Amino acid sequence: MSTLLTNIKELFQVRLNDTPALRGTAMDEVPSIKNAFLYIEEGRIADFGSMDDFPKHPAEEVIDCSNSIILPGYVDSHTHLVFAATRESEFEDRINGLSYEEIAARGGGILNSASRLRDMDEDELFKNSLKRLETVLKTGTTTIEIKSGYGLDVASELKMLRVIKRLKNHEFVGGAKMIIKATFLAAHAIPTEFKNDRNGYIDLIINEMLPRISKEELADFIDVFCEKNYFTVDEMRRLIVAGKKYGLQPKLHVNQFNSLGAVQAAVRAGAVSVDHLEVMTDEDLGNLKSSPTIATALPSCSFFLGLDYAPMKKMMENDVAVSLASDYNPGSTPSGNLNFVFALACIKMRMTPSQALNALSINAAHALKLGSKVGSIQVGKRADLLLFEDIESLAAIPYHFGENKISKVMLDGHFM
Ligand code: NIG
Ligand code: FE
Repeated sequence: MSTLLTNIKELFQVRLNDTPALRGTAMDEVPSIKNAFLYIEEGRIADFGSMDDFPKHPAEEVIDCSNSIILPGYVDSHTHLVFAATRESEFEDRINGLSYEEIAARGGGILNSASRLRDMDEDELFKNSLKRLETVLKTGTTTIEIKSGYGLDVASELKMLRVIKRLKNHEFVGGAKMIIKATFLAAHAIPTEFKNDRNGYIDLIINEMLPRISKEELADFIDVFCEKNYFTVDEMRRLIVAGKKYGLQPKLHVNQFNSLGAVQAAVRAGAVSVDHLEVMTDEDLGNLKSSPTIATALPSCSFFLGLDYAPMKKMMENDVAVSLASDYNPGSTPSGNLNFVFALACIKMRMTPSQALNALSINAAHALKLGSKVGSIQVGKRADLLLFEDIESLAAIPYHFGENKISKVMLDGHFM
């Protein structure tokens, strides 16, 4: 199948070669071509350029895009999209004055989600997770990472990861599949049955869960929620070492509520990314400066919990490679809409629309080790595209916060 998109008003994030994660002033520009064409063959970008150099590609389908701007699909590098039930009652508790931490201390939070997930069978979990995946695809997410971490026992963690594997294999319109990366996050909370034996739970993760997950090839990354009342920096280190033995690179939840030294430990361990970063000391910032570890901010989580936003501007000024993700989950971020993340990044973190788009596309791809597959318009990359009709500029996307201005999503060369 071949498709030719002609007269595109502006084609954004065009790159001739693979680029490392952008940092510093490289974040300020999104390379683009006005009045462009884009040629797609078998789900891959085969050619693009200015209409002035329009080649004669024999396309089966030709689409005039004279009123559209086109972006690469958004990459969501941090989600907990597989869960059993929403948590509106905790939402009301927070409105009435309880904090996220107080709710967790009463047995709500992650443990609440774990007990609901343990009770749900795999097929039902798959069905309701697929609905969410279809929803985020409509709002522009074409590549996604999904974590386990609401099972917290061997059978339930495996159940979650198998659901993620089924989502990976799910065929959308035309047989197109989403690129999905799975992250093993059994170290999300200490389950009730191990309340007085945290080492016992960590041993269970290392000795029972990791070997099974590896054997069934269920995960790409390992994650730990390093935070007071969850996992310590030393425990995180131990879990990272164990994960690496099975080929799982670390992507970590750090500095959401407290700075505990986790950033330094993560950078030293060569973490692919450190995520959250709402609470950052100068030392944390210094550790990330010029390091290959990507700093991922989750502004929808700050918005929903009413907390500080990660200091994105300061990180960019300090040569930190930054990305943005949704953190879609039932407790702290019940939204996977990256258009809203785009708006929050501009409005609350003072990122320019170009910086925010770089953080949602090419840098987010690097946060999943997919920098040579997705995240930009480049020959050979997947034809995962977003078409915005009747908008004038990139800035119109975050400007119209709360809306979905996307007219069409193309996944692997197929319009959804
Ligand atoms: O990234 N902070 C840890 N994990 C999730 C929230 C999990 C939950 O509340 O269910 C997060 O915000
Ligand atoms: Fe998270």
